[in-house]
Amino acid sequence: MTTGHGFGERFTDHMVLLEWTAEHGWAGRPRLLPHGDLAFSPAMAGLHYGQVVFEGLKTHRRTDGTLATFRPDAHAHRFRRSARRLAMPELPEELFLEAVDAFVGADGAALPADDPTLSLYLRPVLFASEPCLALRPARAFTFLLLGFVTSGFFSDRPDPVSVLVSREFSRAAPGGTGQAKCAGNYAGAFLAQQAAADAGCHQVVWLDPVERRWVEEMGGMNLFFVRGSGPTAEVVTPPLTGTLLPGVTRDTLLTLAARRGHTVREERVSVKQWRAQSASGLVTETFACGTAALVTPVGEVCDGTNRWTIGGGKPGPLTLEMRDALSDLHQGRVPDPHGWLRIHTGR
Ligand SMILES: Cc1ncc(COP(=O)(O)O)c(C=O)c1O
Repeated sequence: MTTGHGFGERFTDHMVLLEWTAEHGWAGRPRLLPHGDLAFSPAMAGLHYGQVVFEGLKTHRRTDGTLATFRPDAHAHRFRRSARRLAMPELPEELFLEAVDAFVGADGAALPADDPTLSLYLRPVLFASEPCLALRPARAFTFLLLGFVTSGFFSDRPDPVSVLVSREFSRAAPGGTGQAKCAGNYAGAFLAQQAAADAGCHQVVWLDPVERRWVEEMGGMNLFFVRGSGPTAEVVTPPLTGTLLPGVTRDTLLTLAARRGHTVREERVSVKQWRAQSASGLVTETFACGTAALVTPVGEVCDGTNRWTIGGGKPGPLTLEMRDALSDLHQGRVPDPHGWLRIHTGR
């Protein structure tokens, strides 16, 4: 067993594999194998044309010692949608869940009982494995599920991040692949992320690609804005226009915030509004959310020569409340009325 808790650097002992061919479809059931290198043709289509989609989901150890995976059905659904957009075969949801069960059954014990900040990150990936360079959808694909123990993407404490509004680059285009979780979206974002780092910021914020006015998402996370404070605070997130990823955490937080009595809105927010309303005190908090880093406060925004802080650069109360509500759910400290947890018994 390899240990260490960097993000995606050291993996657990196993992986799950399943193949698909145009001739036979899915080749039976997912198979559990030792985690290890695989041999592929240098002409593998996925390598050349980027016919690759993936997912990211987590298994947590609950306070009663059992393991529970968060919303694997939602991830299975998004995995299918991503595959469809890239003209790839859709993995039936029951095979996705079977792969999750097999993997967690084999490697769930890598998650220690005494450290609730750790989780098991699962990485399902589907790629064109046919050795053929014809410009058409491949006729052979490989599905893999691998994973690692992680302590969180940024840090365990929710230190606020600073963000750079990217004016130079777009992440997605109308009619493009922005709402699919495909590999190329991430390669295309690295340079903008690098520009953010060069400007002294932690993360990049993407604008809509048409008017370049509306805030869409942040790096690998969705964004929320809080207007007002206390029980009447409104929770606002950009709508799913087709150019941002429909986050499972985004959907979860919309539900949790509404359940707590907050007004939730899916509403476009321009950079100009974000800046003016942060200055006037109407926007009291901004936070980002995603599977990897849960809920992360945004403390400072850089947009060219404009720079502004939000909530005095400190994590806001609703941000912390949402983060706690999510981790309470993950760790089984509160009821799960929506059946979001898939419990793995006997581990
Ligand atoms: C571009 C992008 N936006 C948002 C998210 C957040 O999605 P989720 O909450 O499903 O992890 C992710 C992570 O998967 C992402 O890669």
